[in-house]
Amino acid sequence: MAEDSAPSSSMHPSFVGVIRQRERLRQKLAGIRHKIGIYSAKGGVGKTTVAVNMAYALSRRGFRVGLLDADIDTPNISLFLGIDGKMEPTLPLKPLDVGGIKVASTAMLAESSERPIIWRGPMIVKMLGEFFENTDWGELDYLLIDLSPGTSDAPLTIMQILELDGFVIVTTPQRVAGINSMRSGLMAKRLNAAILGVVENMSEGEPSESTKRVAEALNAGVLGTIRLNAAFDLYSDAGKVAVFEDPSILEEFDKIVERVINPG
Ligand SMILES: Nc1ncnc2c1ncn2[C@@H]1O[C@H](COP(=O)(O)OP(=O)(O)O)[C@@H](O)[C@H]1O
Ligand SMILES: [Mg+2]
Repeated sequence: MAEDSAPSSSMHPSFVGVIRQRERLRQKLAGIRHKIGIYSAKGGVGKTTVAVNMAYALSRRGFRVGLLDADIDTPNISLFLGIDGKMEPTLPLKPLDVGGIKVASTAMLAESSERPIIWRGPMIVKMLGEFFENTDWGELDYLLIDLSPGTSDAPLTIMQILELDGFVIVTTPQRVAGINSMRSGLMAKRLNAAILGVVENMSEGEPSESTKRVAEALNAGVLGTIRLNAAFDLYSDAGKVAVFEDPSILEEFDKIVERVINPG
């Protein structure tokens, strides 16, 4: 273990555990060049939609991409991709190849995708840690992590144990969404995570005043907007990825990934 990350004996034991895990994962995930969380404290704003479509927009450009469903309570990525595949329950866990990207989800370990997952915080924390320690992602250019809403166990764990490049904060033009997205961004900043920028989903085209305020409060830019489009529901219900179905949606996501690849 590197000198500077060696836990001091005066620290709280659980804190030492977190530092050790972070160091282990830093080494274990060294083959992943960029790790990005897709996050908002509010549910239903389009985190999963943005994560899935960004992943394929990046993959189209030739990057090696992984997509992790870290929304343990309501893992939706398999549903959005229309897959029912399971990961082999042998270690290390191997993500599934879905149209050229590597996808892993705790749902791929469950017997049935319809059974509710009812876990207390400590189990969620343990599961996420184990998932990272035991999944073999190999070499990737980008790993996108679809987070659960809220500001408690799952997002907090990801922020504590992983060294992320930062978060893409998803919001909608609505003021209530903006306030909650701002909360998530401020939480990430408090935990020393970077904010890569804000995406306004279900947009009218131009960022709303609320979205601009979110970006300003987080000292970040607006990466782009995704228009409100009822077809998103049809695509995800059919297991289709919007960027492959609609060139205008691809254009919107291309702008966003362009800014993520070339920030500033
Ligand atoms: N730009 C959009 N226009 C219309 N509906 C959308 C858009 N983005 C997402 N949706 C729909 O909104 C719902 C919530 O999206 P989802 O990605 O599951 O949000 P979250 O992961 O934040 O809970 C889904 O039914 C999805 O198809
Ligand atoms: Mg989701």
